Amino acid sequence: DSTLIAILPGDGIGPEVTREARRVLEALDLGLRFEEAPVGGAAYRTSGHPLPPETLALADRAAAVLFGAVGDPAFDSLERALRPEQAILGIRKHLGTFANLRPARIFPGLEDASTLKPEVARAIDLVIVRELNGDVYFGAKGRGTTPAGKREGHDLMRYDEDEVRRIARVGFETAAKRRGKLCSVDKANVLETSQLWRDVVMEVAVDYPQVELTHMYVDNAAMQLVRNPGAFDTIVTGNLFGDILSDQASMCVGSIGMLPSAALDGAGKGLYEPIHGSAPDIAGQGKANPCAAILSAAMLLRHSLGQDAAADRVEAAVAAALGRELRTPDMGGDATTAAMGEAVLAGL
Ligand code: NAI
Ligand code: MG
Repeated sequence: DSTLIAILPGDGIGPEVTREARRVLEALDLGLRFEEAPVGGAAYRTSGHPLPPETLALADRAAAVLFGAVGDPAFDSLERALRPEQAILGIRKHLGTFANLRPARIFPGLEDASTLKPEVARAIDLVIVRELNGDVYFGAKGRGTTPAGKREGHDLMRYDEDEVRRIARVGFETAAKRRGKLCSVDKANVLETSQLWRDVVMEVAVDYPQVELTHMYVDNAAMQLVRNPGAFDTIVTGNLFGDILSDQASMCVGSIGMLPSAALDGAGKGLYEPIHGSAPDIAGQGKANPCAAILSAAMLLRHSLGQDAAADRVEAAVAAALGRELRTPDMGGDATTAAMGEAVLAGL
């Protein structure tokens, strides 16, 4: 259903921030319909499972999913399969969303909230394209004992060429729509997986002569991200390296409450969520920064609905609200979640 948006608010600040994002989507008057379903601890409470079949069915029917966050300290002692966090892993896998787009750019006026020098922070406008369904996270895992009686553990790092090819294509497509620069991050000096990665990325490059491709080892990339982040346009990398580099990038732009993300299946279906969690320490207090959720809604408009102009409007409205020096507590202000949402609506 091309007009149906599934809203899965989840736990903690999830419902608080998705409420503001939904209001923004409604205000655009695009003829969208919204249906909500419980997920995470909220779903476990009512149905005994963090990802009930009805919630998955809604996600399947919808054009796109707007996700809040899951995680509830009340359920931390549950067995792993029933923990709220299983819901986000389960739904990504169910939807086959293998490409994770994590844009990091600094909004004017937020340089002072960055951990970098203002003149370095000001230049950040990059996107990390992280592979989400493979790598060492999904390879064979095990614990054992060595012949000498020592405890041992292992996780297999593995990619096949199709998995690399499809994420490489997303990387090139993303770069082609931006400044035309793609940096593939690997560890090809040491890892076989990375050598395959590099070979396949270079094969795909033939189809994108307009994109300038470079390769960088992940340790150097970590250093360059804080030394000169303005030099990056699009980064494509595996699941593990992308996980680490994107968390690093988030602090460079001021607050974890500012970073949206999109998990895409390559065919238009997507799951959109702020990169932060349920923040139990501030839940229910109106302190959460809704910008990451609102910017995730903008990504939904752009990537699943093809509503680029509407997405631009939302991003401009966030910039305008921040430009009026409105700040939630994570960025040193005292605006409430609702006040921040109101300001974005006013900006629309
Ligand atoms: P977190 O991201 O929830 O919070 C980390 C810190 O950042 C906290 O001090 C929090 O108050 C602050 N923060 C996060 N989002 C904010 C926002 N929008 N505005 C203002 N401040 C914000 O990470 P944490 O504390 O490690 O995890 C809390 C729960 O969330 C755990 O159960 C964890 O498993 C879960 N989690 C869920 C994720 C998801 O649903 N995709 C992702 C990360 C964590
Ligand atoms: Mg992470």
